[in-house]
Amino acid sequence: MDNRPIGIFDSGIGGVSILNELFKELKNEKFIYLADNKNCPYGNKSKKIITELSIKNCKELIKLDCKIIIVACNTSTTNSIESLRKIFNCPIIGIEPGIKPAILQTKTKKIGVLATKKTLSSNVFLKTQHSNNKEKIKIYEQPGFGLVENLEKGVPIKSTFFKIKLNDYLLPMVKENIDHLVLGCTHYNFLKDEIMEIIGDKIKIVDSIMPIVNQTKKILNEFNLSSEKNTHGSVKLFYNSKTISKDFIDGRFKMERKEF
Ligand code: DGL
Repeated sequence: MDNRPIGIFDSGIGGVSILNELFKELKNEKFIYLADNKNCPYGNKSKKIITELSIKNCKELIKLDCKIIIVACNTSTTNSIESLRKIFNCPIIGIEPGIKPAILQTKTKKIGVLATKKTLSSNVFLKTQHSNNKEKIKIYEQPGFGLVENLEKGVPIKSTFFKIKLNDYLLPMVKENIDHLVLGCTHYNFLKDEIMEIIGDKIKIVDSIMPIVNQTKKILNEFNLSSEKNTHGSVKLFYNSKTISKDFIDGRFKMERKEF
């Protein structure tokens, strides 16, 4: 048993899509979330910078006495998880690229991936793609230029900006007859309804929310790190820019600006 908090970070609010589910599922756990929105977006930075920022976030979470760290960011996972695991002793959970289940399940042998530029070009992503793609399934990759920045700014998800961008990014894949769409960026989870309106219900959206929740439960059990049953679950969210968009943040979470 271990009553210390679980640490989780992202470049901004994207990882909140995972945090919301973790908070629901792990009722006795305390969470500390870092939104590094001063440095957002990560998706068009170099691997070196993304790794430095990820190390900085992990150091801060360790300083805050976290027992495990969840990297709730595909860009950070795919570019820096190997380095993080070498540096830090605590268990570090990253996002499994959802490309693997999509490759296993596709019938049309065509899948789409919407992710940041840096996730799509990372070794981890390419390795997963190659090692699982025995049947030469066609993968359509699309960087979601501008989506993260505008979600961070608080542009409404029903706005014409997102409608136009998502149409531009997704319709070409739909025309190619994909049957799975992998959301390879945690920010895009907030756009799921808008994406479904465009691609229809015949194309399955694969996100990484439940796999990461299940992996967290598994690690807590394996390392005997769960909090005691009488502990009250809570979330403390720190951000380091001037403000943070509150649109997707649960009102029960405590929020505070902090330098990190
Ligand atoms: N939520 C991050 C991800 O999953 C966003 C990346 C960014 O900051 O560009 O990749």
